[in-house]
Amino acid sequence: MEVIILPSSKEIGALAADAIEALVRNKPNAVLGLATGSSPLPIYDELARRHDQDGLSFEEVSGFALDEYVGLPVGHYESYREVIRREFTNRVDVGAANVHGPDGSAEDIQGACESYEAAIKAAGGIDLQILGVGTNGHIGFNEPGSSLASRTRIKTLAEQTRQDNARFFDNVRQVPHHVVTQGLGTIMDARHVVLVAFGAGKADAVRDFVEGPVSASCPASVLQFHPRATIVIDEAAAAKL
Ligand code: GLP
Repeated sequence: MEVIILPSSKEIGALAADAIEALVRNKPNAVLGLATGSSPLPIYDELARRHDQDGLSFEEVSGFALDEYVGLPVGHYESYREVIRREFTNRVDVGAANVHGPDGSAEDIQGACESYEAAIKAAGGIDLQILGVGTNGHIGFNEPGSSLASRTRIKTLAEQTRQDNARFFDNVRQVPHHVVTQGLGTIMDARHVVLVAFGAGKADAVRDFVEGPVSASCPASVLQFHPRATIVIDEAAAAKL
């Protein structure tokens, strides 16, 4: 793992955007793994700015979302498909048909998860996966206890995660209990992983996954085994290293 500590979320976003820009300029049909939550927003802001001001094009890029809630109606404002559309793909020139997400409303969820894995494979695999980290060390929605070899599947959210995500809904009761998420094995297949985190609330999780043992009880710790994992954090998130 390479750990890079920067002064602010703006600089974190810019450094991650540098990696994505270098990839896309070198490989115009690159495959990006797209994350939600607040952590990637500075990356998307910076990519949208470079698209507008520097002509950075995503026309041939395709994107695969990390995860999705189960049970939200299609088009729900907080569904991750909508969040990714709003925060990133609508602000650049990615073709709508090139943006994919696990289907949380499928009748056959297991079948949909298998198709999603097949679609990632058919696209040639993910070149660069953007990640945040949960306060309990989850990545995607791989909660503590997730198999380190897991593939895309349905999961039950930890109560901590529902509390953490309640801020996006009117109250915690509206946060779905179930989700579909790329597995830890799926994430580990990405050729480059860029995890961003900022704020004191992430300090325990960052210490545990960077310096603790590799363990299913801290899912992000599996990234210690990744050949190319870049961890970009601020001083507050790095405080307990
Ligand atoms: C969510 C998402 C994760 C995200 C994490 C942290 O539950 N499923 O992909 O990394 O929580 O969110 P935030 O960046 O808002 O702290």
